[in-house]
Amino acid sequence: MDKAVIPHSRPSLDESDIRAVATAMKSGHLSQGRRVQEFEKRLAGFIGNKNAAATSSGTAALHLALLALDIKERDEVIIPSFVCSALLNAIHYTRATPVLVDIEPLTFNLSADAVKRAVTRKTKAIIVPHLFGCPAQIDRLTELGIPVIEDCAQAIGATFKGRRVGSIGLLSVFSFYATKVITSGEGGMVLSDSKSLISKIKDLRDYDNKNDYLLRYNYKMNDIQAALGLSQLARLDEFIARRREIAALYFREFKNCHFSLPLWKEENDHIYYRFVVRTEEKSSVYLEKLRRNKVQARRPVHIPLHVYMRLSGFPRTMAAWQKSLSIPLYPSLKDKETKKIIAVVKDIF
Ligand SMILES: Cc1ncc(COP(=O)(O)O)c(C=O)c1O
Repeated sequence: MDKAVIPHSRPSLDESDIRAVATAMKSGHLSQGRRVQEFEKRLAGFIGNKNAAATSSGTAALHLALLALDIKERDEVIIPSFVCSALLNAIHYTRATPVLVDIEPLTFNLSADAVKRAVTRKTKAIIVPHLFGCPAQIDRLTELGIPVIEDCAQAIGATFKGRRVGSIGLLSVFSFYATKVITSGEGGMVLSDSKSLISKIKDLRDYDNKNDYLLRYNYKMNDIQAALGLSQLARLDEFIARRREIAALYFREFKNCHFSLPLWKEENDHIYYRFVVRTEEKSSVYLEKLRRNKVQARRPVHIPLHVYMRLSGFPRTMAAWQKSLSIPLYPSLKDKETKKIIAVVKDIF
């Protein structure tokens, strides 16, 4: 990309991250080891869970969470349409049937009412993403008595009614992809208070040295990744504070722009992984204008899942897809970059 363009997202790395990775490499132990264990312990402690299993990606974490619940062919798993295809893939890996539901118009999170209408006798789990860093109405879903997997890939550190997201469902999954809230390059984790579910996941993520044969995977995280994950986790409070600081600035500066600002509560429950606005015209028009002014914005979801699956309906998802865009917001944005973003956005809107 043109160097002068402000990218839509970027990792936030500093010297402490680099030192942590170098120390891990110098130790000579590269594969899954004590740093992975330490990362599991620290994240579980931070979120408020008893057990954790690190994985090679968020997708692997989702797949293993579904396998731990014994989800298989003919079972149904409910997910929103407005989310990335990793969820659809994980369900398809198990041969279960994905059941897509529409979203809430203002928060972009899956609609609890739509979930209730979609539940059948075959429903074995609901995957609840806390999209863009905004907590979903998780209590209305856990009360259904169906296992809930919280997808916290975009929401580490967000809270719902005073509890950290990821500590509320039966299981929760995380992603540490390069531009996620914290990164390990690639990586993921499953958390749960259930020791037996996490033991099953730890067994399935590693195929080696087993006395019985079972279809297992190589879904392990390694110690180099965990070293980076640990160093990033130590910076998480600083990252979230910076995200909220930039969001507050955008809220102030954009209040007269011709788009709808995210309708998020004043309370500190949102971590602003994405700053998503609703536009009056189709977002493609504005994306091009922003790009010409050297600000890279994005559609917050590339293509909704029901479009991939050629299903009709999902009016709220369609509206969100066509008329929303995500404006760059991440801790490594420099002040001069946020100033430029604000000037360009105000000019276009
Ligand atoms: C909500 C959500 N769930 C799951 C994933 C999958 O994570 P990964 O890319 O680590 O496989 C992502 C990644 O973009 C995501 O945004």
